[in-house]
Amino acid sequence: MDTLTLTRPDDWHLHLRDGPALAAVLPHTARQFARAIVMPNLRPPVTTTAKARDYRDRILAAVPAGAKFEPLMTLYLTDNTPADEILRARDSGFVHGVKLYPAGATTNSDSGVTDVGRCTGAFEAMQRVGMPLLVHGEVTHGQVDVFDRERVFLDEVMRPLRRDFPALKMVFEHITTKEAAEYVRDADGPIGATITAHHLLFNRNALFMTADGRAGMRPHYYCLPVLKREEHRQALLTAATSGNPRFFLGTDSAPHSRGDKENACGCAGCYTAAFALELYAEAFDAAGALHRLEGFASIHGPDFYGLPRNAGKLTLTRSACQVPAELPFGEHSIVPLRAGESLAWSLTA
Ligand code: NCD
Ligand code: ZN
Repeated sequence: MDTLTLTRPDDWHLHLRDGPALAAVLPHTARQFARAIVMPNLRPPVTTTAKARDYRDRILAAVPAGAKFEPLMTLYLTDNTPADEILRARDSGFVHGVKLYPAGATTNSDSGVTDVGRCTGAFEAMQRVGMPLLVHGEVTHGQVDVFDRERVFLDEVMRPLRRDFPALKMVFEHITTKEAAEYVRDADGPIGATITAHHLLFNRNALFMTADGRAGMRPHYYCLPVLKREEHRQALLTAATSGNPRFFLGTDSAPHSRGDKENACGCAGCYTAAFALELYAEAFDAAGALHRLEGFASIHGPDFYGLPRNAGKLTLTRSACQVPAELPFGEHSIVPLRAGESLAWSLTA
């Protein structure tokens, strides 16, 4: 298969930032995706429907002329989010999920939830009105190994939460482990999961060596949840290419300036928005499953969220496409994933 035409896809997990950074990255996403679930971890976070409305207006103002893009907004859950706020979010029509960041788990998550027990009122309201809970599934206790944080979260938080709120619609975001993939596959009730391109393409060796085996620390491969062992990458690939509608595309594209990445305490996040579909195509192609890409990228997500599938089409061709060494990012620059390398698939329309 040398060309692949698909229904225009959506990105079900995206960081767009704000201000000049937003203006720099949004055109990349709008080139490929019709819609995206926009993460609320700004500083300060998007904790209310009113803030989400303002952020949405700033995003729409940054959409390039001639492009069509619809931001699907989310609220940042805190220990104090009242049930009323959930109802306002639902009534707005533009808030499509509420994001649970365990406090301290990742970039700008200091105001996140310290104990899910404090969010009972919000969860009850969400369950009642069908508002999805989007979960960053990692525990944050210092004594838990960074590579085990998702697995421990699954047992300590996810399972009890789903037992207490069995009808609450949940998305296990950017899953990175075999355990999470199997849990989502086998669970009862309304649950889905997003999978990033980088977790389909790389295992944790990528953090510490080049593709040809040269040792060195590679900050542009550092994201949260961190890349895992090869057996986990294989399990994610199996899930993504299985045709199971619970698994869908979410890039978790998370831009940070070059200086914030190449740093003694570098920020977590891989920037994949500029070549997202090309990267996913490479992963699906390597698994012999290009015929499953459309379901994963364009069908399962809208069906899960209860939104219409997109009408337009996109075409990918098997022809080399060069990833630039860096891209403009306001006054700074950003190093995309696979910078300076050539990818096997290009977007043609
Ligand atoms: C994200 C960011 O930079 O906002 N970083 C990341 O590594 N994925 C936050 C997140 O989604 O965890
Ligand atoms: Zn994210």
